[in-house]
Amino acid sequence: MADITLAEVRRWDKEDSLRPLRAAFRLPPGVIYLDGNSLGPLPRTTPRRLDAVVRQEWGHGLIRSWQEAGWIDAPARVGGKIARLIGAAPEEVVVADSTSINLFKLLAASVRLQPAAGTGARRKILIEAGSFPTDRHVADGVAALLPDVEVVAVAPAALPGALDAATSVLLLCDVHYRSGVRHDMAALTRAAHAVGALAVWDLSHSAGAVKVDLHAAGADMAVGCGYKFLNGGPGAPAFLYVARALQAAARSPLQGWIGHAAPFGFSEFYAPAEGMGRFLAGTPGVLGLAALACGVDLMLTADAAAVWQKSARLFDLFAARMSRRCAGLQLITPADARLRGSHIAFRYDGAEAVMAALIAEGVIGDFRPPDVLRFGLTPLYTRYEDVWRAVEVIAEIVGPAK
Ligand SMILES: Cc1ncc(COP(=O)(O)O)c(C=O)c1O
Repeated sequence: MADITLAEVRRWDKEDSLRPLRAAFRLPPGVIYLDGNSLGPLPRTTPRRLDAVVRQEWGHGLIRSWQEAGWIDAPARVGGKIARLIGAAPEEVVVADSTSINLFKLLAASVRLQPAAGTGARRKILIEAGSFPTDRHVADGVAALLPDVEVVAVAPAALPGALDAATSVLLLCDVHYRSGVRHDMAALTRAAHAVGALAVWDLSHSAGAVKVDLHAAGADMAVGCGYKFLNGGPGAPAFLYVARALQAAARSPLQGWIGHAAPFGFSEFYAPAEGMGRFLAGTPGVLGLAALACGVDLMLTADAAAVWQKSARLFDLFAARMSRRCAGLQLITPADARLRGSHIAFRYDGAEAVMAALIAEGVIGDFRPPDVLRFGLTPLYTRYEDVWRAVEVIAEIVGPAK
């Protein structure tokens, strides 16, 4: 890989089985977009679909569209599509609200599921120190509401040792938002179960990017973003998963009328819906769900194995070209594809200024404080030549390798 030429890279693009999918997105000319792990680009199908939802279903169908256009079933319908991307059954996933809100629902539900809840025992929520802020904030918020619950944050290597009889829930991000480091979901879930804890996973940086198999890992609950690798649009609704075996006992702390067993019975008293329906709270955001469905449908047209393979190759090419062309940037994402997600991150002292300069040159990645440059590798529309060119621009900005 170190001696690869631009001609070879162009040949890879020509032979890439995912190549036709790039045309399914509206990407602005002159931009190399390496930030699809933050906000996926616009699928060409989305404006047309939203136009139909607005003009036809809303404009013409009016309130009849809740039934006639299937609006009311959209959270389960789109959830069922996402289930195929994360190794879950269709009836284990729904789409609603934001990732942060869903995390709150599942974290509270999982703590309250534990047999010792309310007895003063088994009350620790164990998380990774330095993971995405919302996970910590939500955990702290749940702990503040439930008696005797505390949040304990430790370094990744200390996680297995910190799992003990007092651990109620292990909450982890599958892929770290900054470094791209990936946990061993199956091993950590097993370790959590061995001490009687439940394992809740945040898939925001892995769903739609790398192979996720919640069933194989034995995961109890999970959440994830719709607007990153799933290309659902800014502020797209998020998804949540609860393993079938836990659904009957799990209760959302956000009891709303749409999560009621019979919402249109208008009972004054709450009774949870069967299955995942109980994790809905209020009226579904129909426009957001329609846009998310476009992104997910597009992803489902791609051969999943080809997506994962291309992600790994884009990474290897990026890493090889960077070590060849750029001085002083420290790769902080693991080289082993099994240990990472689908972005590549470098530590650099002047990272913020470098990213601003890159964006001015049309290479869009992002900066994460204090010193990280992060580039999303999204196989549906990123070409190998894009990676080559991005590295050339980085080299111009930071100076070439000695
Ligand atoms: C790991 C992780 N969780 C959650 C979120 C976002 O949550 P929300 O959609 O509620 O803003 C992000 C966003 O970058 C994230 O990286």
